[in-house]
Amino acid sequence: MERLTATSHGIARAVDLLRAGELVAIPTETVYGLAADASADRAVIQIFAAKGRPRGNPLIAHVASLQQAQALVEFSPLALQLAEQFWPGPLTLVLPRTAHCAVSLWATTGLNTLAVRMPAHATALAVLRAFGAPLVAPSANPSGHLSPTCADHVDPDLASAVVDGGKCAIGLESTIVQISKDRAWLLRPGGISTARLEAICGPLADGTSPQHPRSPGQFASHYAPRLPLRINATTVQTTEAALTFGAIELTGAATALNLSQSGDLNEAAANLFAFLRLLDNPRWSGIAAMPIPDSGIGQAINDRLRRAAHR
Ligand code: TXA
Ligand code: MG
Repeated sequence: MERLTATSHGIARAVDLLRAGELVAIPTETVYGLAADASADRAVIQIFAAKGRPRGNPLIAHVASLQQAQALVEFSPLALQLAEQFWPGPLTLVLPRTAHCAVSLWATTGLNTLAVRMPAHATALAVLRAFGAPLVAPSANPSGHLSPTCADHVDPDLASAVVDGGKCAIGLESTIVQISKDRAWLLRPGGISTARLEAICGPLADGTSPQHPRSPGQFASHYAPRLPLRINATTVQTTEAALTFGAIELTGAATALNLSQSGDLNEAAANLFAFLRLLDNPRWSGIAAMPIPDSGIGQAINDRLRRAAHR
């Protein structure tokens, strides 16, 4: 895997590779994405193969502007309001495909909707602008595993190149909202808190239930380290690694990492995946994660921890 710098030179090389149908890992403010030309069937199919991703789990199209998104999906007034408020940023909107939508049907796995997002990371936007067309990009990890939040955590087998854009500021994935029949459905909690969304669109309908998946990717088990993970742990065994939060430590663990000493949930989110990777070491019998407050981005942290703990 070639390592590219986030300079005009590195970005030009990334665009050349993408035009040739190759996969390139790019930084976003949430997690690193495994990007491909959204209109190229072969490149899109290659994403599923590289990640070992189930063929029924659709991809998000990333755009450089609202206008670019409007060629792909139909924006209702509510959808437009949300895009204007939160783009560029960690909000993905699931909307009906337009009749002339250029995104490969493989990316949407036969659905008549498409997920779109305009990332805020300067390098992601620079790549999108230079490429001049939408890029599909799932998180740049083998399916089911932890998402990468820095270039070093991108699996070298996945992509032809990675553009190094440093550490992801948010550290967990975008919030996914589907607009359907003028209601907003939360499909995945993420970088934008539900409170901020609800301030604009009123109460969100719950689209996250694993029993009735509106989002094909809502697997109960996901983001999983290799070691077993216990959540809401209030005690710890001497053989376990502890993932702690706030000023009170879990004493007695073999090792411990604190997501945020000061109890800052944004800091905790940014550290979550990297710390799980560090603790995921066969020297220890398992990982014990302390309870995390379920407010703001804490909801997304708890969603990831629950899925990581599911066996
Ligand atoms: O922050 C993010 O969203 C990152 C960065 C790279 O942009 N991307 C990301 O992609 O998390 P991925 O593929 O790991 O997760 C996309 C999720 C999946 O759960 C998928 O099922 C859902 O979005 N999704 C995509 N298209 C959909 C659609 N048309 N309807 C419902 N859910 C959809
Ligand atoms: Mg993912």
